[in-house]
Amino acid sequence: MINEIRGRKLKLLKSSSEISKRVSELGKHITRDYRDKDPVLIGILKGGFIFLADLVRHIDFNTEIDFVRASSYREGMVPGDVELTADVTTPLEGRHVLLVEDMLDTGVTLGFLKEHILSKKPASCRICAFLDKKERREIEIEADYVGFDIGNGFVVGYGTDWGEMGRNLPGVYVLE
Ligand code: IMP
Ligand code: MG
Repeated sequence: MINEIRGRKLKLLKSSSEISKRVSELGKHITRDYRDKDPVLIGILKGGFIFLADLVRHIDFNTEIDFVRASSYREGMVPGDVELTADVTTPLEGRHVLLVEDMLDTGVTLGFLKEHILSKKPASCRICAFLDKKERREIEIEADYVGFDIGNGFVVGYGTDWGEMGRNLPGVYVLE
């Protein structure tokens, strides 16, 4: 089992069994809320790929899935400007959209992406974030569904990365 990345030790924060329990709860919740709404689930690449993949298997209605790709963290841990590097192809006008992201941190990325989606005139646009670092928020934005509230430490695993490493870890780890 991987226990370090480039010499930085990893400390377990959420195990894969805790994560699967929570993701299944979120899936049930979203199923209840969106069953009759014919929503489009939009995963945010790259970080959201594992969360979306697990989440949709707990969603019990027929649904479309699409992706946007955005990059914000340029050099490891320093937040930069957000850039949209790939857009959805699904027409979103009049549709109920749920954005699925690995992490809500300063809020800059999701703030930018929500504005971008809203410009396509959907019926609604809500956010499902796997991890939420509430204390670090710099803009006013909240997730409608949250997997886990976490502290300020930098984490990797379950889709989240440190300089592109760590996404494949089945749990979430704090970099020591
Ligand atoms: P925000 O724009 O500051 O909210 O940052 C959101 C993005 O930064 C997320 O999509 C993550 O990819 C990345 N990010 C923020 N905190 C962490 C972290 O602790 N580990 C890995 N990526 C992070
Ligand atoms: Mg991300």
